[in-house]
Amino acid sequence: MKVIDIQGLKKSFTGKRMQRVEALKGIDLQVGRGEVFGFLGPNGAGKSTTIKSLMGLIRPTAGTVRLNGIDVHDPASRRSVGYLPENPAFYEYLSAQEYLTFVGRAFGMVPQRVKERGEQSLRRLDLWEARSRPIRGYSKGMVQRLGVAQALLHDPDIYIMDEPMSGLDPLGRALVKEIIRELRGEGKCVFFSTHITADVEAVCDRVGVIVNGALRMVERVDRIMAEGITGYLLRSRSPAGEREQIVTVDHLSDLLSRLKEEGQTVTLVEPVRKNLEQFFLDIVKGG
Ligand SMILES: Nc1ncnc2c1ncn2[C@@H]1O[C@H](COP(=O)(O)OP(=O)(O)OP(=O)(O)O)[C@@H](O)[C@H]1O
Ligand SMILES: [Mg+2]
Repeated sequence: MKVIDIQGLKKSFTGKRMQRVEALKGIDLQVGRGEVFGFLGPNGAGKSTTIKSLMGLIRPTAGTVRLNGIDVHDPASRRSVGYLPENPAFYEYLSAQEYLTFVGRAFGMVPQRVKERGEQSLRRLDLWEARSRPIRGYSKGMVQRLGVAQALLHDPDIYIMDEPMSGLDPLGRALVKEIIRELRGEGKCVFFSTHITADVEAVCDRVGVIVNGALRMVERVDRIMAEGITGYLLRSRSPAGEREQIVTVDHLSDLLSRLKEEGQTVTLVEPVRKNLEQFFLDIVKGG
C-alpha cells in the first residue's frame, strides 16, 4: 500500500464570469514510506490545488485521493499527517507555545507529550527564545518556521508541505532541508511543493513536474542527474603547470591513459552535467 495514492485527480474551478479553469487535468501519483517527493512546477501549475486535495480541503471534480489507504473524505486519513499550508496564518494573539498547545489538543495529544514535543519542535526551528511572544510580532520567516514546527508536533508519518522553504533565509532553508532528510531517515513520507529546482536536487528521492495541471514527468532525481552527464572536467598537473580540459563521456578513458603516458598527474575529474533546472526549463517550455 502506498502512503500517498492519487488516481485520476481532476479539479475544475468556475471563476468569475462563469469561466472554467481546469486546474488539474488527471493526476496519477503514488509516494511510499521513507520517500521524499518534490512536486515541482511553475506558478499556477496546480501544486497547491493538488495539496489541498490531499488534505481534503477541496473536493475533486474526479478521481480518488488516499492517505495510508484511507480516502481523504474521511477525516481519519489526516490523523497522521503534518500539514504546512501555502502562506500559513495563525491566531495572531497567541504565542507560538500557546498555538502548539492548541494544535496538540486538536490531535488529542496528552499535555505532557505536547509540552515535550512542543519544546523539541520550537528549539529545532529556532523559535524557543520567541516562544512566549504573540505571533503578531513575528517576522515572515518566523511564521513560516512556526508552520514547520506545528507540522512536526504530533510526530506524524506523512508530511505534506506547500513550499516549506518559502520566505526563509539561507539558514532557515538549510535547516528545513536537514529536517526533511531526518524525516526520511525515520522512514516518514514527505511530499512538498516548490518551484526551486536546487531544493529538489538537495533532498528529494523523486521529482514530479507539473505544468498546466498535468504531470509532465515523474523520475528519480539520481537518475536525472546521472543521465544529465554531458562530459567530464579534468584537471591535470605536470612540471609545465596545471591544465584543465573538458572531454565527452566517450573520450574520458582515452584521455586518462594519454595523460598517464605523458607523466601527468590527474588532480580532479568532475562530471559536467545538465542540471535539474535545465531539465525543468526544457519541460516547462516544451509546451
Ligand atoms: N479557488 C479558485 N478559484 C478559481 N481558480 C483557482 C482557485 N484556486 C486555484 N485556481 C486556479 O488553478 C490553477 C492552479 O492554481 P494553484 O494555486 O494550484 O497553483 P500553484 O502551482 O500552487 O502556483 P504557485 O506556485 O503560484 O503557488 C491556477 O490557474 C489558479 O488560478
Ligand atoms: Mg501554490
